[in-house]
Amino acid sequence: MKRALLAGLGLATGLAVTTASADEIKVGMLLPYSGVYAALGSEIETGFNIAMETFGGDTDATFTVVSEDTEVKPPVALGKAKKLILQDKVDVMVGIVSSGVLGAVRDMVDGAGVPLVVANAGNDEATGAACSPYITRMSFSNQQVNRPMGGWMKEQGINKVFTLAPDYAAGRQMIDAFTASFTAAGGEVVGQEFTPFQKTQDFGPYLAQAKASGADAVYVFYAGGEAISFVKQYDSFGLKADMPLYGSGFLTSPLYVNAEGPAAEGVITALHYVPTIDSPENAAFVAAFKAKTDRMPSEFAVQGYDAARALIEATKAGATDRASLANALRQVSFDGPRGATSIDPATNNIVQPIYVYQTVAGEGGLTQKVLATLPAERDPANGCDMAPVAN
Ligand code: PHB
Repeated sequence: MKRALLAGLGLATGLAVTTASADEIKVGMLLPYSGVYAALGSEIETGFNIAMETFGGDTDATFTVVSEDTEVKPPVALGKAKKLILQDKVDVMVGIVSSGVLGAVRDMVDGAGVPLVVANAGNDEATGAACSPYITRMSFSNQQVNRPMGGWMKEQGINKVFTLAPDYAAGRQMIDAFTASFTAAGGEVVGQEFTPFQKTQDFGPYLAQAKASGADAVYVFYAGGEAISFVKQYDSFGLKADMPLYGSGFLTSPLYVNAEGPAAEGVITALHYVPTIDSPENAAFVAAFKAKTDRMPSEFAVQGYDAARALIEATKAGATDRASLANALRQVSFDGPRGATSIDPATNNIVQPIYVYQTVAGEGGLTQKVLATLPAERDPANGCDMAPVAN
């Protein structure tokens, strides 16, 4: 009988799962439910649940979820990961939004031999020099979403850029990837600042620096609560008309672009998913998401959806325990909302096209107008040398 129950959602529910049969999979969900990325965490979980409801019947496995809040704090997240692995004895972990948190839990996950499906954090190291056969990324890497923008912006006639991002791993990696490709294309980064992560309320001093820099445009990475404040302040500072705003697409995510309002109009960014992708798989996902939430899904929703889908596919392939799940997860492939979805076996990172889009006014609020589709490019292995897990 096909059965797949998603049981036990809720924070730290520590469900009493007793004598588990081989096809009962215990999932540790490690997400931020508080802090600047709280909305991202619940969006990933919503996507995850929709995929479980949609595809769960395709596998004989059943899934029980224990959720923990990382608070976007690496030491807190490491403690929660230990609890999930050692106390709850989860078979697999899903989640992680912040690159800082991924860096903090990497050795624990690898050392304990627990597979982790990364549903957001783009930390390049986790699929580069610090890669692990236990870590499979269903989201994006920081370099993947920023690298294509350097050449594309230079082609649009932008020669001088000022960059801004929060001062932590993701901010630095995203800006480094953009800077490398923009300068390789002949552009010049005339100034760069990193703002204290989760602490900056007033971007005014940084915007004054950008204004004085003589740049043609500003390129940034901000996400969640910081993206909303930044986009609004950029507009109210009066910079938008003279210095157009660009960035990685989390800046104007469909998840919170309507909270940014008219300040976001005209901003050009790039991302691995836009809800306007025209395919039957995306149409089905959008319909299921809208039925549940009454709004369009974001990149975070699709990452949760595809993470659950990967788990389901891995169990369909016969995986039941930590080692077999780790091996199966890195081999999954399916047609999803993003198109043909598969993992690069050299790094365990997803390979996908990148969409350059402009935020424009639409009928039901702000929407994403795709300006260019840039072909999928594998990240360089960057020191990743993976030995397979012994089953
Ligand atoms: C990250 O820390 O890797 C990160 C966080 C939020 C995003 C994207 C990347 O929207």
